[in-house]
Amino acid sequence: MKIIKSPIALSVSLKKIKLSGKTIGFVPTMGALHEGHLSLIRAARKDNGIVVVSIFVNPAQFGAREDLKKYPKPINKDLALCKKEKVDYVFLPDAKEMYRDNFSTYVNVEGLSEVLCGKTRSGHFRGVATVVTKLFNIVGPDIAYFGQKDAQQAVIIKRMVEDLNMAVKIKVMPIIREKSGLALSSRNIYLSKNEKKDALVLFKALNLAKVLISGGAKDAARIISRLKQLILKSKSAEIDYVEIVDPLSLKPLNKISKECLIALAVRIGKTRLIDNIILRV
Ligand code: PAJ
Repeated sequence: MKIIKSPIALSVSLKKIKLSGKTIGFVPTMGALHEGHLSLIRAARKDNGIVVVSIFVNPAQFGAREDLKKYPKPINKDLALCKKEKVDYVFLPDAKEMYRDNFSTYVNVEGLSEVLCGKTRSGHFRGVATVVTKLFNIVGPDIAYFGQKDAQQAVIIKRMVEDLNMAVKIKVMPIIREKSGLALSSRNIYLSKNEKKDALVLFKALNLAKVLISGGAKDAARIISRLKQLILKSKSAEIDYVEIVDPLSLKPLNKISKECLIALAVRIGKTRLIDNIILRV
């Protein structure tokens, strides 16, 4: 496994490999790897000749009051996990190298970036789209792997790839959960023992939505209100949003139709958690 910090060095190595006909599978991450990330790496390993993982805590996607400084960075553990999963290249760029002094070009996926998490995390998806574009340009992947855990991010990346004719296939993999149902997240380590129990309300709310909708409920506002009631039973929960939207346009649905994305963002204590489910009726 090669660990490379320089974007140019990585590009040069991968271009040579591409000439040999091997496909490149790419998994962009911010590190603090868990089974969710590993599921993407395993999918990439299965599909491709070469697997590249990037570990980069991207400053451009953090708001001024967000957790950039305290974001976990267990780099040795991450590298050991990558090695175990037979990753070929780990890309570990420096923020100074990714965003040089006069950096001034951003990618903004309009509309989709302003809804759901975009309402409270202004500039977040611009930072994501920009860094993912840079990473795609450096790595030149055939297939890039993203998690359904960040449903809005996956929709935005797919839109960007289509709009800008990027020559990469996007694969979105299912949400990996703890046995309890809690979706794995690098931010779960911020939760105290009690908060971790409280955090289960996200999964419980998604299950309630499933029960209501499979029982024939159609009115989105009513369903949302039932989910909010359930979430607020947990003392440390503060709702950012509970929405039912079209899975492609992310536009709110009034009536449950063929396919809907139920998306939640809830603060448990100081930690903001997201989760979602796609339901088909
Ligand atoms: P990060 O939060 O590290 O996540 C990297 C990838 O792992 C994302 O595609 C995310 O959706 C996926 N992932 C996280 N938790 C998961 C889970 N429980 N199950 C399945 N997949 C999961 O998302 C980012 O980093 C960044 O925004 C990035 C795309 C790297 C750009 O900086």
